[in-house]
Amino acid sequence: MLPQEFIYQLKQANPIEQVMGSYVQLIRAGSLLKCNCPFHSEKTPSCVVYADTQDPHFYCFGCHAGGDVISFIRQIEGIGYMDAVRMLAERAGMTVPSQSQDNREENMRMRLLELNRAAANYYYKQLTGPDKRGLMYLKERALRPDIIKKYGLGFAGDKWDGLLNAMQQLGFTETELLAANLCGRSQKTNNLYDKFRNRVIFPIIDLRGNVIAFGGRTIEKGGEPKYLNSSDTPVFKKGRNLFSMNFAKKSQSKRLILAEGYMDVIAVHQAGFENVVASLGTALTPDQCRLMRQYADEVVISYDSDAAGQNATVKAVNLLRAVGLRPRILHMHDAKDPDEYIKKFGAPYFRKLLEDADDALTYELKRCRDGTDPASEDGTITALHKAVNVLAGIENELDRNVYLSRVAKDYDINPEILKSQVEREIRKRRAGAKKLDWQRRITAPMLRDPVNPDATQHHAEAKAEEQILCYLFRQPDALESVLARIKPEEFVTAFHRKVYEKLAELLPQGYDFSLSLFSGEDFTPDETGRIAGIPAKYEEIEINPRTVEDCIRTLKQKPMQDVNIENLSDDEASAFFAQLRQNKR
Ligand code: UTP
Ligand code: MN
Repeated sequence: MLPQEFIYQLKQANPIEQVMGSYVQLIRAGSLLKCNCPFHSEKTPSCVVYADTQDPHFYCFGCHAGGDVISFIRQIEGIGYMDAVRMLAERAGMTVPSQSQDNREENMRMRLLELNRAAANYYYKQLTGPDKRGLMYLKERALRPDIIKKYGLGFAGDKWDGLLNAMQQLGFTETELLAANLCGRSQKTNNLYDKFRNRVIFPIIDLRGNVIAFGGRTIEKGGEPKYLNSSDTPVFKKGRNLFSMNFAKKSQSKRLILAEGYMDVIAVHQAGFENVVASLGTALTPDQCRLMRQYADEVVISYDSDAAGQNATVKAVNLLRAVGLRPRILHMHDAKDPDEYIKKFGAPYFRKLLEDADDALTYELKRCRDGTDPASEDGTITALHKAVNVLAGIENELDRNVYLSRVAKDYDINPEILKSQVEREIRKRRAGAKKLDWQRRITAPMLRDPVNPDATQHHAEAKAEEQILCYLFRQPDALESVLARIKPEEFVTAFHRKVYEKLAELLPQGYDFSLSLFSGEDFTPDETGRIAGIPAKYEEIEINPRTVEDCIRTLKQKPMQDVNIENLSDDEASAFFAQLRQNKR
């Protein structure tokens, strides 16, 4: 259990605005700090940092991410609660009080990494074992031996227990094989079986050289699924890693090539472009973009030329831009993907494609014509309207004018008229943004509780519940007597009810009270962060049995009449907030 005092000190030593400021650019807007939300892609900042409150936190009005500084680190780094605590402690030069459970987790991670390495080794050896189908397959796909070796590609044969037996002989346990996602347990026989069979194996290697997961492509025609990927494990988070980043990083290029699949990456790499990566069986994530941002300025998106690939391209453009990367888009003709293109036309032509890659704006402007008939007036007008929207999104005026004259020329229209249209669109957007901004400001004090949305309408009750919880956090022994006075179902807000239920469930079972009671699967990082914030918030405030009695009385009263602020006019809303502030005093 981490002492509350430690968490409090940790937060004191890591002011949220400083910590967030090292990931995003904070802008002061009046008394508030704002930034472009790092958890979703946006052009105008909707993420607000409430730094000067007792419970410093952030909240994004766009995607509802929010929480305290520990939650922020958990989310932006995609790590667990303890890792986030450790990171912040390191930042502040503090020592985390040691924890035995903590060591258990660390040992498990180490074991899984050892197991993955041993498994990769086993698969690699299988390539040259008696069953040569894997090696044949890779040869057919024109991979050179040096590349097979460099990527450590392997093969899983037909047996249900090949890997299982080999790993057990090395001393790995069933628990470890299951946790690494290398084996599953058969419901029928209750025995373990190998997950990867009849597949060529692609080890996924992190930046430190650890084997963290595997992808496997079937070698059978029509085999399903075509690619099987490890699901998340304690050492692997899909959305946070990129295939081949370990090599791309070494290429020292400020430009990365982003492909869709394992085979594309390897083919491009084999053709001499080592700065190539792919996301792993999922759509590109913001985390992956931030990872690329650490090494590159520019990303050439080289997705499949089919419709799915092109849709994914549009999304990737936005995600890459959001982290400050310059996206470019590669255009392939007469080939489905980079692998096929290189096989058909060779590396020099692929280099030419890279050189000719459009910048993202040119690509977007070209796409305006998609699905419209250039010969008809209707088609031209539809395309032009889309183009006006793209142009209006360009923030730099000089850039905007360059693209504007190009569009005017392409469509053969008067640049002045186009310009006035674009400027009108910009004014419209600004007015919209202002209005939104105002709405956010007025609702901010009420909406700033994404973890416990009920608190918006039940402010007094939420506070009472929070104090009861805080009292119990400090004096878990009082649980029985408090439970006798108020039942979990009498809590008004859902989130506090859930916390109270958990206490009521676990403490009688003999669990010691600790914040880690709430860091399991039942609680999101935001929720855990919030719970950790409760004791910090009341640190200096005495809560005695009398206070608790008052809180219980508040909860037993009929809650204040429900008000849905969304249905109020602006004037009514102002009056409502004024009233609330009055009540508070
Ligand atoms: P594609 O279906 O485009 O395959 O999937 P590909 O890369 O061209 O593969 P080959 O050339 O047929 O071998 C692209 C990526 O999508 C993921 C994989 O990461 C794959 O590399 N994918 C695809 C899966 O995760 N599962 C699947 O069943 C299929
Ligand atoms: Mn392919």
